[in-house]
Amino acid sequence: MVVKEIISIGNSQMPTVGMGLWKLEKGLASKGVRDAISMGYRHLDSATDYANETEVGIGIKQALDEGLCTREELWITSKLWNTDHRAEHVRPSLLKTMNDLQVDYLDLYLIHFPIALKHVPHDQLYPADWIYDLNAECPKMELDNVPISETWKAMEELVEEGLVRNIGVCNFSTGLIHDLLSYAKIKPAVVQVEVHPYFTQEKLIRLCRERDIAVTAFSPLGALSYVSLNMAQNSDNVLGEQVVLTAAKRLSKSPAQVVLRWGIQRHVSIIPKSSNPKRQLENLQLFDFSLTDQEMSEISALNRNQRFNDPGEFCERAFGAFHPIYD
Ligand code: A2P
Repeated sequence: MVVKEIISIGNSQMPTVGMGLWKLEKGLASKGVRDAISMGYRHLDSATDYANETEVGIGIKQALDEGLCTREELWITSKLWNTDHRAEHVRPSLLKTMNDLQVDYLDLYLIHFPIALKHVPHDQLYPADWIYDLNAECPKMELDNVPISETWKAMEELVEEGLVRNIGVCNFSTGLIHDLLSYAKIKPAVVQVEVHPYFTQEKLIRLCRERDIAVTAFSPLGALSYVSLNMAQNSDNVLGEQVVLTAAKRLSKSPAQVVLRWGIQRHVSIIPKSSNPKRQLENLQLFDFSLTDQEMSEISALNRNQRFNDPGEFCERAFGAFHPIYD
């Protein structure tokens, strides 16, 4: 099957390669986004939680004002934060994001985690954190009992109102996807999860393919962004794997391009983040070469079922909250 630069989702077309905006520093975000659009990025993956949507919005506006592309040519994703899962908070949260991003619709709105936390009013703290009261003597994560079905119904209303074109979920396991499909009037268009050669997610990707749901891989390069967060070791380096280096040499491409090509050759969309223009450009240049079936299998065989972004683990380590969402 040919790897296309666009993944069709109903009537929409999502560019296969997007730019991840997590950890893009506020001070660099406006220019970074404007320059990324100028370079050819047409898919931006934002979230309330990334705490840079105002700056991202300035970059988008600048690019549109300069005529670098039209709004219709851009695919803009954002995500609902955990403290806004109650039905009455979903629409205001989207409107805040749209206001910050300076757009009048989103292409995709995702539930960021299957974790509902006690609501924090936006005028008190925005974006809210994992923990409820940052100033408390012993700050704690406080859960809220909100079924995903309540949040999803409110997300469906956003589609019906025309505020968002597509809705989906992030960080869901197969069991939660089955459950969501049992009641969804509007099926999730996209499931965004961690996928890289150390965490290949065979079953989840197969389930989504069979149910006609697109998959977006976050952290498609693996551990790189987790080392500084103490969530991975320097040695968890997929770019240093021999099979990756050999393919990179054969193709005269960088190891990162080989790993990203492995991602899209599985028909998964990818959203690598980079603050570096040279790396941003190479992350887009993935459509003029291909990996052999053998290279694909050998890279897939690197799988260790190693998840770097596990809220059950980091919430326990950071503030003692035991709330696993994966076994
Ligand atoms: P940098 O921003 O300095 O380029 P994420 O897991 O959130 O997608 O982040 C990807 C990580 O990989 C970032 O730390 C980014 O660092 C780094 N990175 C992105 N593209 C490349 C590349 N082509 N080669 C090497 N490292 C990359």
